[in-house]
Amino acid sequence: MGTGKTTLINRVLDWLHQQTMRTAFIFNSRMNTTHLFDFILSEFEIPCDSRSKSQQLMKLNQWLLERYRSGETAVLIIDEAQNLTFPVLEEIRLLTNLETSTEKLLQIVLSGQPELEEKTKTS
Ligand SMILES: Nc1ncnc2c1ncn2[C@@H]1O[C@H](COP(=O)(O)OP(=O)(O)O)[C@@H](O)[C@H]1O
Ligand SMILES: [Mg+2]
Repeated sequence: MGTGKTTLINRVLDWLHQQTMRTAFIFNSRMNTTHLFDFILSEFEIPCDSRSKSQQLMKLNQWLLERYRSGETAVLIIDEAQNLTFPVLEEIRLLTNLETSTEKLLQIVLSGQPELEEKTKTS
């Protein structure tokens, strides 16, 4: 449904780049959990030699803490999120656990067709 979601995301990305924000934009939502972390690290330009998920997650956490300390906000935006598989959605949910005692380290925006709402409902 063309309701202007992608257009709006692109405007938001432009705006975020003018602020002290770091962004990762994922537009290809057909991926497995391995690709999710490859995409996120690559989009945030986080160097990581290892492709093991635990190493990547550690690097991401470290990098997010550094961003937090330097007053930068990190934003992950996923378009066409209705295509995400449940395992990938669960990984994304777990990313919300990256936090200090008071703040979330990563802001996450999911954009998608109406079925996304149904898919993300918890029982
Ligand atoms: N605010 C707007 N006013 C008029 N046309 C728009 C507006 N936002 C988007 N469009 C146009 O509508 C079409 C669909 O937009 P798009 O962002 O691709 O929608 P979606 O991502 O929701 O499918 C595109 O041709 C786009 O240029
Ligand atoms: Mg779109």
